[in-house]
Amino acid sequence: MIGRLAVLAAGLAVFVLAQDAEFGWPRWEQRSLDCTSKAAGDSCLLVAPAAKVPRDPAKYKCRVEAMPQNAWNPLARNSKTRIACPIGCEPDADLSVITKKPANNTLCQKYYTYGKYRDTKENEWYLWITEPCRANLTTHCRFRDVPYGSASVA
Ligand SMILES: *[C@@H]1O[C@H](CO)[C@@H](O)[C@H](O)[C@H]1NC(C)=O
Ligand SMILES: *[C@@H]1O[C@H](CO)[C@@H](O)[C@H](O)[C@H]1NC(C)=O
Repeated sequence: MIGRLAVLAAGLAVFVLAQDAEFGWPRWEQRSLDCTSKAAGDSCLLVAPAAKVPRDPAKYKCRVEAMPQNAWNPLARNSKTRIACPIGCEPDADLSVITKKPANNTLCQKYYTYGKYRDTKENEWYLWITEPCRANLTTHCRFRDVPYGSASVA
């Protein structure tokens, strides 16, 4: 049984690697928004640790924009505006699941009080957050700037 599971796991790993090679987005970088510390004030600060191309937080300024109002979103009923911040990810690749800290803040609900969107004019991914949510948000984005091992170069 264990042997069979191992074979299955190995097969899955090869499959996942092959997929990655095919799509060619193998490198991940973390992107966080600090929206809770004193330094962030009433906005958010980009935190991009270990970014291959350094991301100067001063150049990734958040903007304040209208919060879309929807009947299905009572949580943000009193939110006229939201904070939206560019995060310096490649526009062609999707982002990983967004996590929030503190994780148990029930006022922070994806789609309702925080989320992501791609600004197609700017070709830039944004994370956004609105009242009453107050949290740090973290996601990861992919880059296709790693040459593949010689194995895939016939
Ligand atoms: C939010 O991010 C800032 C900056 O990285 C960090 O100092 C702070 O501890 C974080 N807060 C939480 C609740 O994770
Ligand atoms: C969330 O977790 C923190 C630390 O574990 C705790 O102090 C706080 O009371 C919790 N908040 C809620 C709303 O559960």
